[in-house]
Amino acid sequence: MALLELQEVTSGYAFGPDILQSVSLTVDEGRAYCIIGPNGAGKSTVLKTVAGLLRPREGQVLLDGTSIGGLRPDLVLAAGICYVPQDRSLFPDMTVKENLVMGGFLQPDRKVVSERIEQIFDMFPILRSRAGQHAGTMSGGEQQMLALGRALMTQPRMMMIDEPSLGLAPQVADQIFETIASLRQMGITLLLVEQNVLRGLEATQDAFLLDLGTLRLEAPSDRILDDPRIRELYLGRQLQRGTEAETREN
Ligand SMILES: Nc1ncnc2c1ncn2[C@@H]1O[C@H](COP(=O)(O)OP(=O)(O)OP(=O)(O)O)[C@@H](O)[C@H]1O
Ligand SMILES: [Mg+2]
Repeated sequence: MALLELQEVTSGYAFGPDILQSVSLTVDEGRAYCIIGPNGAGKSTVLKTVAGLLRPREGQVLLDGTSIGGLRPDLVLAAGICYVPQDRSLFPDMTVKENLVMGGFLQPDRKVVSERIEQIFDMFPILRSRAGQHAGTMSGGEQQMLALGRALMTQPRMMMIDEPSLGLAPQVADQIFETIASLRQMGITLLLVEQNVLRGLEATQDAFLLDLGTLRLEAPSDRILDDPRIRELYLGRQLQRGTEAETREN
């Protein structure tokens, strides 16, 4: 059975129009997926709908076959799906450690929370050395690591990460993608949205192409990377530019 399934989900904001139009997609446990598509396609809206921030107007969101559509965000989190939003949503005036403690809010045992924080510090040594620093004063890359670390405090089965490399220098983005690779090794199911299509496809096994709130293509990420026709048909300038650059080099 799929870990997560969207069945003909239509959703949107407040009194506005439908943004997602009957989107159906399946996420299997332990796999990594990427949602790609132009600005405004509805990529973040998919994540917000699964996270419980938007209630589907039609259709079903199923976790292990049970409906979670419209469940409160904290209950979705408790059910094992963690959402790292595009703006990272840290508590800027709290320290690194306090942000991690907040990430452990579902865990009543303080000793367990402390142990998890130690695990996060082992994974991100920079966070240990900055434990007392206010999150808002950290660099973009450090803040993204903290956002991922805070998300890990809930020991999620699945992480939805929106634009993990947004605003980061290429080398810093590399570090974030190394972290994402280790999340995969930990067996965490991943659903990424990534502005940088090449990186997003390289980091995942399967991709969903979204356009105007509609799922246009679902394919293995490497097939999209390798198939010039798909690249040309479905992907914007970014990849075509990549192809031109490659051609020029050849
Ligand atoms: N809070 C909001 N209230 C009303 N409309 C919104 C809100 N957030 C997004 N939208 C609208 O929903 C549509 C899809 O937005 P969404 O943020 O899901 O796109 P996206 O694919 O993530 O784009 P981007 O690549 O720019 O992040 C857009 O038309 C956007 O204007
Ligand atoms: Mg977005």
